[in-house]
Amino acid sequence: MSAQQPQAIYLEDYRPPAWLVTHTELNFELEEEQTLVRARLNIKANPEVSGKPEPLQLHGDDGMELLRLSIDNQVLEPQDYRREAGMLTINNVPDQFVLECVTRLLPHENTALEGLYKSDGMFCTQCEAEGFRRITFFPDRPDVMSIFRTTLTADKSQYPVLLSNGNPVASGDAEEGRHWVTWEDPWPKPAYLFALVAGDLALLEDSFTTCSGREVALRIYAEHKDLDKLEYAMTSLKNAMRWDEEVYGREYDLDIFMIVAVDFFNMGAMENKGLNIFNTSCVLAHPKTTTDGGFQRVEGVVAHEYFHNWSGNRVTCRDWFQLSLKEGFTVFRDAEFSADMNSRTVKRIEDVSLLRTAQFAEDAGPMAHPVRPESFIEISNFYTLTVYEKGAEVVRMLHNLLGPELFRKGSDLYFERHDGQAVTTDDFVAAMEAVSGRDLSQFRRWYSQAGTPRLNVTDRWDADAGEYRLTVKQSCPPSPGQEHKQPYHLPLAYGLLDEAGRELRSGVLEVREEEEAFVFSGLESRPVPSLLRAFSAPVKLEYDYSDEQLLMLLRHDTDGFNRWDAGQRVCVRLMQNLIRDWQNGQALQLPATLVEAWKQLLQDEALDPAMLAQCLRLPSEALLAELADEVDVVAIHEVREFLRTSLAQALEQQWLAAYQRCDTRDESYSPDAASIGRRSLKNLALGYLMATGAEPWLELARQQFEQSDNMTDQQAALALVAHSRHRESAAELLQQFYLQWQHESLVMNQWLAVQASDPTEGALERVQALSEHPVFDARNPNKLRSLVGAFCGQNPMHFHSEDGSGYAWLADWVLRLDKQNPQVAARLLTPLTRWKRYDKVRSALMQKQLQRMMDTDDLSADVYEVVSKSLV
Ligand code: PHE
Ligand code: ZN
Repeated sequence: MSAQQPQAIYLEDYRPPAWLVTHTELNFELEEEQTLVRARLNIKANPEVSGKPEPLQLHGDDGMELLRLSIDNQVLEPQDYRREAGMLTINNVPDQFVLECVTRLLPHENTALEGLYKSDGMFCTQCEAEGFRRITFFPDRPDVMSIFRTTLTADKSQYPVLLSNGNPVASGDAEEGRHWVTWEDPWPKPAYLFALVAGDLALLEDSFTTCSGREVALRIYAEHKDLDKLEYAMTSLKNAMRWDEEVYGREYDLDIFMIVAVDFFNMGAMENKGLNIFNTSCVLAHPKTTTDGGFQRVEGVVAHEYFHNWSGNRVTCRDWFQLSLKEGFTVFRDAEFSADMNSRTVKRIEDVSLLRTAQFAEDAGPMAHPVRPESFIEISNFYTLTVYEKGAEVVRMLHNLLGPELFRKGSDLYFERHDGQAVTTDDFVAAMEAVSGRDLSQFRRWYSQAGTPRLNVTDRWDADAGEYRLTVKQSCPPSPGQEHKQPYHLPLAYGLLDEAGRELRSGVLEVREEEEAFVFSGLESRPVPSLLRAFSAPVKLEYDYSDEQLLMLLRHDTDGFNRWDAGQRVCVRLMQNLIRDWQNGQALQLPATLVEAWKQLLQDEALDPAMLAQCLRLPSEALLAELADEVDVVAIHEVREFLRTSLAQALEQQWLAAYQRCDTRDESYSPDAASIGRRSLKNLALGYLMATGAEPWLELARQQFEQSDNMTDQQAALALVAHSRHRESAAELLQQFYLQWQHESLVMNQWLAVQASDPTEGALERVQALSEHPVFDARNPNKLRSLVGAFCGQNPMHFHSEDGSGYAWLADWVLRLDKQNPQVAARLLTPLTRWKRYDKVRSALMQKQLQRMMDTDDLSADVYEVVSKSLV
């Protein structure tokens, strides 16, 4: 451990900035061996901060080389300023002045991928959250907003394309075959939204006419080899622009909107003003190389980043504790967009599944934090499922409580009140309060309290009075630093059905108390409640349903989400019983009721294939782990495999019929919701057929692998064969796939991930060997996620191997990557933080690896924070 431990910072310590930067002029001399950055900042004292003038403090990475510093043309000598702990301090500055500074950067050596770095020969930047301080000295905090003017100079033949935020205003040639372009962004922005790109890039161009008739040039850039993979992103962008006008009244505000695809990127994508930078995995799409999931991700992420132009850029965050102000709201917006473009119910099922497995696990673990955290050591660690997905659920609850019209009024007021400002989640809620006249003070607890609330619902039927009473009790388990929780205010959407499945009542109950009763009168018989429809609040709902009631809801509920959920509840309960049987050494048995219910579903030709596929997918091992008191990795895996195999065999004819019904071989590929639904049912059916173990289905899968014209079907077949006991076929197909796609980097990510998640014997040896394979590159975060991330997150049987070898392998990686890319190192480490959830043997082994990291000198703040908090 380092001598100086990284320090936490606290929300309650927030102070407005003493100094503002009205204008920022940047000059980049981009060269192979170095980049010189000349910055000219117009600085003035913040008129809103009174008292005696404070010293000027600018952020600047300690490793950044400072060549020259001047104030109003007076050069400062080293004794005129101080550099320590990431800060540059200058005493006695005038009220208003021009600060100039020259820094020298080494982008080609920047492996952390923060600040200015190189990705496959092109220069690019990543400044959120605190990367700008690796470029020059600046008050690098989101409440300091400045107008940027940026000039890039570089070799003309190697870097013909030079981009930054805003509009190009001048350009020309320079000496020695170099050229330059100047960009000006008229909108004041925080430094985290600054970006530049320089490279030899291919371009797809289009245009969009906004609702007020302005013409916007749309430009998507990528490496030349990927030019044929940009069309879908362009279509998605235009759809998103139209949707934001229609649904939120938001018009784009520059003449150009650009997206650049880069292969080296720590996250998914970044909303830099007018110049979004994307991980190739979130923007490139082509039927031959991209799966349906990939297409939908591109659509969703393109929309997400575009929507940030208003929810994030025009109105930004006051400080990083408010991160969910832009992320929660923008995830909600992109989810609604995707729901409108595709199947609303399927989108909801996918999002809730992620929330229930990964976010609930985070909220119950050592890194649990409120949607608006109270403190952090390294902000990069707080780009979490809680801030993003739970944050989006909180916004969705406001939508549910207010209804769509008032919600829209509230969002209009929010944008109008705060345009050009850096604000807080409280300001967002206040706008919703203002338009609705409602008191949302209790609702605000969703922002300040961590943990997943539990709703326990019981009911009573009074036949004489025809009265039905629902009693709702809520509680929330303790989380780090929060022993006791106050009750939440939440919308509980419901329906009441009769035994035959007819809907009697529906509506939204508002729950506020720790215990509260709701009475329904005028009913003729005892209803079956459909609770928390469309997952109206991010809680764990407990109600003692009988299997018959759940099967009735699965068939008849008018709420598609709850139909699916009823089926999942049946399976979860059954699997939990089987896990107990397995642990007690009893033989496992498949209940006839489940087979019968599934048979009916499979024979119901009226059911939408997408919905059917969701209903017939067994709850994941990750979900069962999250629900367990103590995770029994082996029992969970064995039980799920048993159930899969039994359902496969019992319904073999039905699976084949479903496969044939959805066979899309004669259609040309299209990523629309209906086609995606058919492919997902077809491939699910193929999975069950393969699970029977019968030879003909291996042949069917091999055929599909060879004959399909799209990556969705090819990859599905590959994964099924690669994870099967047919080891020879597995090896053959993997080799064939490699030969076919070795030059497609994104496809090779899939190839690595398929192997890393292969549950058959020898998994660790396989991933070890793959880490030496030429397609693997440990500096590329996508490759790391595909190999190390997939093994540790999607191969529980082997990651949790009882000899601790999986844990040691991960810790080796984290320690190696910590020197190179701390953000990615800290993220990969997540599975080890859950050590308390496992049996004695495993948890001791996991803890040992955490301790080993803790005992290492000079850990990054990123890894230090996750490890130290996990060991508490
Ligand atoms: N702000 C990005 C988003 O749209 C995420 C991101 C954060 C990207 C930090 C890079 C670095 O969600
Ligand atoms: Zn975002």
